[in-house]
Amino acid sequence: MKREMQNLPPVDSSRRKWLKTVGIGAGAAALSACVDSGVKELSAAGMQTEHFPSATPNLNDGLIRLSSNENAFGPSKKAVEAMQGELLNLCRYSDATVNVLVKKIAAQEGVSEDQIIVTNGSSPILFGYADWITKNGNKLVTSMATYEGVPRGAEFMGADVTYVPLDANMDFDLDAIEAAVTNDTTAVYICNPNNPTGRAVDAAKLTAFAKRVSQKAQVFIDEAYIEMSDAYPSNVQSKLAADGYNVVICRTFSKIHAMAGQRLGYAIMPADQAKQMGRMLRMGGVNYLGLVAGMASMEDLENLNTMRSRVGTERAKLTAAAEALGRPYAKNPQGNFIYMDTGMPHDEFATKMRALGVKVVGRTWPGYDTWSRISVGTPEETDACVNALKAVYA
Ligand SMILES: Cc1ncc(COP(=O)(O)O)c(C=O)c1O
Repeated sequence: MKREMQNLPPVDSSRRKWLKTVGIGAGAAALSACVDSGVKELSAAGMQTEHFPSATPNLNDGLIRLSSNENAFGPSKKAVEAMQGELLNLCRYSDATVNVLVKKIAAQEGVSEDQIIVTNGSSPILFGYADWITKNGNKLVTSMATYEGVPRGAEFMGADVTYVPLDANMDFDLDAIEAAVTNDTTAVYICNPNNPTGRAVDAAKLTAFAKRVSQKAQVFIDEAYIEMSDAYPSNVQSKLAADGYNVVICRTFSKIHAMAGQRLGYAIMPADQAKQMGRMLRMGGVNYLGLVAGMASMEDLENLNTMRSRVGTERAKLTAAAEALGRPYAKNPQGNFIYMDTGMPHDEFATKMRALGVKVVGRTWPGYDTWSRISVGTPEETDACVNALKAVYA
C-alpha cells in the first residue's frame, strides 16, 4: 500500500531514528537490525509500517503506543480503497447503507436483521446498555478486572453493580457469577476474550452458562476481540441470539479490522430490544465511510486471517518476554495484549516504560494495582517494547 494513497504524513525520521536507538545496552544492535528487517518485511508485504492520523500530530509523540489495544497494522487495503472510492459521495445520509451492512451481518452471524443495531464504534452500545440496565431493574453482575464500558456506565447512572473476583486462572468465574445472579438481576456482562486479562472462556461452558443464566437475567457478551482468538469462529456466541436466548452479542470494527478511528460497531439482541435501543442509539446515524470500509473489511477474509496470525506472533513475543523475566501474567491471552504483574505500582511501571519510549495503559483495575496491560504493536514496536521490558527488569 502506498503511503500517498492513504494521504498519511511521511515517516517521521526522528521517530525512526529513535526506534533505532531505543534498543537498550546489548539489545541496541539487535533491535536496530530487527527494526530494519521488520520494516522491510512489512513493506514487502505491502503493509503500512506506521499509522498516525495527520490531523492529530500530537499522537505522534515519538512514543510507541501500546496503551489502547489499537491494531497498529492498519486497516485492510480493500477497506482503504473502498473508502477512497466513496469520498465524493459523503453528501448523502447513510441510513440505506446501514441496511446493507445489517444484511451482511445477519447472513454472517445467522441471525435475523431486526436483531441488529449498528453504531459508531461499539462504545455507544455499551453506554446505551448501561442506560437500559438502569431502566430495567438496575442490577448488573460482572467480574472484577473487565472492560469498564458497561459496569462503569451502569454505576454512573446509579445501578447496583456486583463485581465477582476472577478465578485462580484469571478467568471469569462463571460458577460464582451464576451464584451471584438473583431473580431481580437485570443483566450479566461477560467480555470474551476479556480486556484486560486476554483470557477466553471455554466456548461450550459459556454457551451452557448463557442458556441457564439468561432465564433469569440478560447475558451481554462483549466479543470485541473474538476474531483475534485462536478458536475463532467456533467460540462466537451469536447462535444463542439466533436461537432466541435472552442475550446481547456486541462486536466492534476497532480491533481486528483496525478501524478504531473510523468508528463502527454492532450488537445482536432480541428484536424488540433492538427496536427500542436502536431508536435511542441512532442519534443521527452511522458514518458512511465506516460502513463502506467495514463491509469491505468483512469480505477481506485473507486480511482477517493474516491479521490474526500477525497479532498472535507479536503477542507470543510479549508472553515470551514475561516468561523470560519471571513476571507472572495471565496465560494464553487471546486478544492483542497481555496482562502482566509488574511487581511495582502500575503507574511506576508506566513511567519507567514511558522513559524508555513505550506507552502502556495508564490506568489500573481495582484489586490488580501492580498489573499492567501491554498491547502488541507492529514487529518493530513489539521488539522495542521487549527491549524496554528487559531494561526495566535489568
Ligand atoms: C472489550 C471492549 N469492548 C468495547 C470496546 C470499545 O471499542 P469501540 O468503541 O472502539 O468499538 C473496547 C475498546 O477498547 C474493548 O476493549
